[in-house]
Amino acid sequence: MGTSSQKPARRIVHYRFGDAQDVLRVEDAVHLSPLKAGQVRVRVTRSIIHPGDLQLIAAKYLQTRAEIPEGRVPGSEAVGIIEEAAPGALDGSGIAIGTRVAFLAPGAWQSLVDLPAAALVALPDDISDDVAAQLLVNTITARHVLRIGLSSLGARPDNIVLTAAASAVGKVIAVLALRDSLHLIRLVRSLESATRLAEILPGGDIIHTASTGWQEEVRRAAEGDLRLVIDGVGGPMVAEIGRLLNTQGTMVSFGLLDGGPADLTMFLPKGLTLRGATIGTWQADTRPEEQAQDIATAIDIARTEPQVFDGFRVFDLFDLGAAITAVAAPKKSGNVLLKF
Ligand SMILES: NC(=O)c1ccc[n+]([C@@H]2O[C@H](COP(=O)([O-])OP(=O)(O)OC[C@H]3O[C@@H](n4cnc5c(N)ncnc54)[C@H](OP(=O)(O)O)[C@@H]3O)[C@@H](O)[C@H]2O)c1
Repeated sequence: MGTSSQKPARRIVHYRFGDAQDVLRVEDAVHLSPLKAGQVRVRVTRSIIHPGDLQLIAAKYLQTRAEIPEGRVPGSEAVGIIEEAAPGALDGSGIAIGTRVAFLAPGAWQSLVDLPAAALVALPDDISDDVAAQLLVNTITARHVLRIGLSSLGARPDNIVLTAAASAVGKVIAVLALRDSLHLIRLVRSLESATRLAEILPGGDIIHTASTGWQEEVRRAAEGDLRLVIDGVGGPMVAEIGRLLNTQGTMVSFGLLDGGPADLTMFLPKGLTLRGATIGTWQADTRPEEQAQDIATAIDIARTEPQVFDGFRVFDLFDLGAAITAVAAPKKSGNVLLKF
């Protein structure tokens, strides 16, 4: 049983890997197969474009450059309304056809997504679609990164340096760390960004790397105790982090916004540890209770810290090129959302 909608179903698809501007196209999506056991069909209203989605489309960190004859629909999270469910799929879930949900699942950039009912997150009425579409990947990543970073140390650190602090993930990491009374030293690229961040999320130190001598500012703020850096930039920032960290310190890498090669020269003589953290291993790395807590935290942050999700931009599918450009635009103020 399903509800009907007047809007035509569409999907964003690519048939080869490459630059998103070149390879993505918008198509009508007409061939729906019957739902499999345990699946639901969600009519999507909003989906976010993460920088990582564009990296996957470009096969940036994969070896393959193969064609995809059947087409691949990108996207990793979205918000919508449940339109249909396989028999019994929603039993005992408290969710019904017509419920507004968020979900984390591949192929999120299409009007109709079939996915396991277990992946659904029911949304309270006071969280808009625009905010709900930004919640899951970034909050889960932020919690996962902090868990990995803190558990890699013997004792709670006096200070944590966070790079890419103005990024969407960086802002959620800051919310969590500040809530936990951890002293955060946040790095952004410009004074303008530092000022904006201090307005929406005050706390700790915010230092901009456009100023000469920013490294000294970090050392001063850390008072000589810097055992953990959480890095979303990569590239030349890695060498800087290597110089800043205490001997036997740890760098947790969650992002590669710079995209350039990294110099690990200081890691050997200082006995530093480099640890990658990815949402790709979240389910394997965490217990179901922690996963539920991560999702509950996402809902809670949406309610208590709505400013973290402001500054987003919503694009229609006919404006897909502009949406892709906005993902890595200078002075980006918030996330980029697609409207279905
Ligand atoms: N590990 C995972 O599972 C996972 C999950 C989600 C995201 N990520 C990664 O985390 C990173 C951040 O993602 P996001 O969606 O939060 O990013 P975002 O919101 O698009 O971040 C944009 C901000 O980051 C800063 N930035 C951009 N390029 C930079 C550069 N080259 N050097 C320093 N700062 C730069 C800029 O802020 P200022 O100029 O104001 O400083 C920019 O406004 C990405 O690399 C993404 O792929 C990883």
